[in-house]
Amino acid sequence: MKTQNINHAFLDGVLEGKYPDVYYHFGVSSDDPILKNFKDVKAVIMCGSGGRIIEFADKWSKMNKNKKIYALPKEERFVTRYCAGVLFASHGMGMPSASICLQELMRMIFFLKDGNLDEMDKVFWARVGTSGGVGLEGGTVVVTTDGLMADLKPYRALNGGLGEYWFDGRFPVKIAQDIIDANCDSGIPIAMGKTVAGNEFFLEQFRLDGAVCMENLQSKMNWLNWIHKNGVRNIEMEGAMMAGYLNHWGFSKFAMICCTLLNRLNGDQVTATKEKLHTYSENSGVVLFNYLKKTVK
Ligand code: URA
Repeated sequence: MKTQNINHAFLDGVLEGKYPDVYYHFGVSSDDPILKNFKDVKAVIMCGSGGRIIEFADKWSKMNKNKKIYALPKEERFVTRYCAGVLFASHGMGMPSASICLQELMRMIFFLKDGNLDEMDKVFWARVGTSGGVGLEGGTVVVTTDGLMADLKPYRALNGGLGEYWFDGRFPVKIAQDIIDANCDSGIPIAMGKTVAGNEFFLEQFRLDGAVCMENLQSKMNWLNWIHKNGVRNIEMEGAMMAGYLNHWGFSKFAMICCTLLNRLNGDQVTATKEKLHTYSENSGVVLFNYLKKTVK
């Protein structure tokens, strides 16, 4: 892992024992004994919902001889489980929420791996989620190659001079391909492509069914056709930030695996039955676990 960008000014003092790092939104600090059990972490898996995190951890435990599952105490923001080398954490919805989760997890990984860049770089990160397909029917799993904002530019945030910091939204394509290869017999439809992270479910995904609607059919379709022509295959709300922050530190193993709930070229409302939605979201979990099984030993 080659990086100039780790916040050593703050994090080195944690390793030197000058002060603990407070992972406030997870309800633990770096000096909490529970974290000793997480030292062997090999993968960090994030998804929006806390319920899904609990299901994932149970499944992973069953796949690993019922190994013990640890839970961090605070669950009002993010639900966290650790089992057999995998840290599972929910991140809520959208980049403001997910960025808090990811930043605290990156600091936690730095602490757990004693700031050793080679050890940190062995950690695999993934977000598993739901999305709107662009030209793909519900139930397709998209493995992302690039995370972009709705203007097809990378994630950025305001800086102190009120200009912008720009982040690199690329996902490592080799990892995306390995995930697809690990699933060639799964029978699940899988595609690889760019993903737009909208800053809003309605406005920045150009829906016509929000309480606040600023688009019409023509402007919506112009946007959808434009992003489709530029290689975008799905729309969600976190990936551009996730890739941006992980690239900023120089991690080399990360991915985003999202199932589509609908084809946005055909509409805006998510109308699939509960059973169908369950199968769709199972699909992305199956794709993840087929990869984890092969890579996390
Ligand atoms: N998640 C999104 O962000 N958009 C969709 O259309 C579906 C799921």
